Amino acid sequence: MLDITLLEYADSGIYPFHMPGHKRRPMFIDNPYRMDITEIDGFDNLHAPQGILKEAQMRAAALYGAERSYYLVNGSTCGNLAAISAAVKPGGRLLMARGAHKSVYHAVCLRGISTVYLQPQMTEFGILGAVDAQEVARALLEEENIDAVLLTSPTYEGVVSDIASIADVVHAHGIPLLVDEAHGAHFGLHPAFPETAARLGADVVVQSMHKVLPSLTQTALLHLCSARVEPKQIERYLGMYQTSSPSYVLMAGMERCIRFLREEGEARFSRYRNRLMEFYEKAEGLSGLHVMRREDFTAEEIYDLDLSKIVISVKNTNISGETLYRKLLKTYRLQMEMASGAFALGMTSIMDTQEGFDRLCEALWEIDGSLSHAACNNDVNDLLRRLYRPKKKAYEPAEAFNLPTEEVSFDAAVGRASADMAYLYPPGAPMLLPGEIIDADVIKNMRSCKKMQLNLQGIADITNERVNVVKSQIL
Ligand SMILES: Cc1ncc(COP(=O)(O)O)c(C=O)c1O
Repeated sequence: MLDITLLEYADSGIYPFHMPGHKRRPMFIDNPYRMDITEIDGFDNLHAPQGILKEAQMRAAALYGAERSYYLVNGSTCGNLAAISAAVKPGGRLLMARGAHKSVYHAVCLRGISTVYLQPQMTEFGILGAVDAQEVARALLEEENIDAVLLTSPTYEGVVSDIASIADVVHAHGIPLLVDEAHGAHFGLHPAFPETAARLGADVVVQSMHKVLPSLTQTALLHLCSARVEPKQIERYLGMYQTSSPSYVLMAGMERCIRFLREEGEARFSRYRNRLMEFYEKAEGLSGLHVMRREDFTAEEIYDLDLSKIVISVKNTNISGETLYRKLLKTYRLQMEMASGAFALGMTSIMDTQEGFDRLCEALWEIDGSLSHAACNNDVNDLLRRLYRPKKKAYEPAEAFNLPTEEVSFDAAVGRASADMAYLYPPGAPMLLPGEIIDADVIKNMRSCKKMQLNLQGIADITNERVNVVKSQIL
């Protein structure tokens, strides 16, 4: 039973290095049913706010420096859908970071939008780097009729792009910059963390409050920061993509979180920063495991790195990120957010305790001492570098989405256009998109993912090596 299983987890003593950012510590209510109402007299309507919700949204805008902010109760997912729908007309063109979240691809498919990709380079740690302003400039000169540019910054792993420079480039072409800042709702709130894209020139910024702040799951914000995207359009699409019964429990939780940040943010963020710095310093001497820092990357690879994401590289050890993740859970009762072949990742927030950081640090030292450092994990890193190479496009993702499809074996798929979106999850950056041609390398890479037990998702059947392709189109 779901409720009992959840309560058992809550009482298990397992420490949460995962979202939501409230880390299950109460912010305001003990009985959510007392607050669970809809738009009755004396309350406001999220789809046409005039009273308490309008004021609450204005306070969010003031906190992040936006012209207008919108409460989202369907996560950043509905924010991305609305931002893209408002900025790009049906059949229009979007220049976008290829590693975008699936909600971005869903908007592309729903609206029949064509895509042009920005492909950040894969770093030696198996993490995709930042989008470079010069690459954006080059793409905008080469490609015609781009309606908007969309970036993910920070990425799941905390990689931040140079939003200010990119915004200048994008605006020189008279089009808007949309930033998926789902993992950066804590940005711009303290100097220890990067500035929010809302204050750096982006036109629309979407943030998941629930990922990194003490706010309930599904809560997010859309910030509108210029007149390049019309508020009426944003509101129209939010009206379509958000539930018609927004939960007051979620919205009251958002308002409580924003009040908490305004009243106690400075002190809480300072204490949090100190805990993080102490953790990073203590982890510096590890010899095989490595907790990544900004200094591990070149200026060409990343612009900045968010301290809040604890990314533990296993590059110089004989274990995979998944093995580390499982060891941390089974032996040390530390639940990380995710693992890839090359690293394990923990998400932290202002709600983390000193005890949590200490437990993780001690566990890493103990595990590090038990590892053989002779063998290195180069296989995974080589594979990750190969996975994201550009592919030839036979159809736009939106076209392939609407064409008839059939399921075939890996061997029979060579030379066919994929109907599946294949990705390692998390973080979910696609290695193959609908409409892209499956060549022998793609099949080889998918087989390597299977052999290395990486979490390859989105294809018809990894166990039996089958994939969906566009029907009867030999290319
Ligand atoms: C980069 C990115 N954007 C958007 C989303 C969607 O956010 P939400 O879960 O709040 O809908 C996610 C979720 O993991 C994400 O990682």
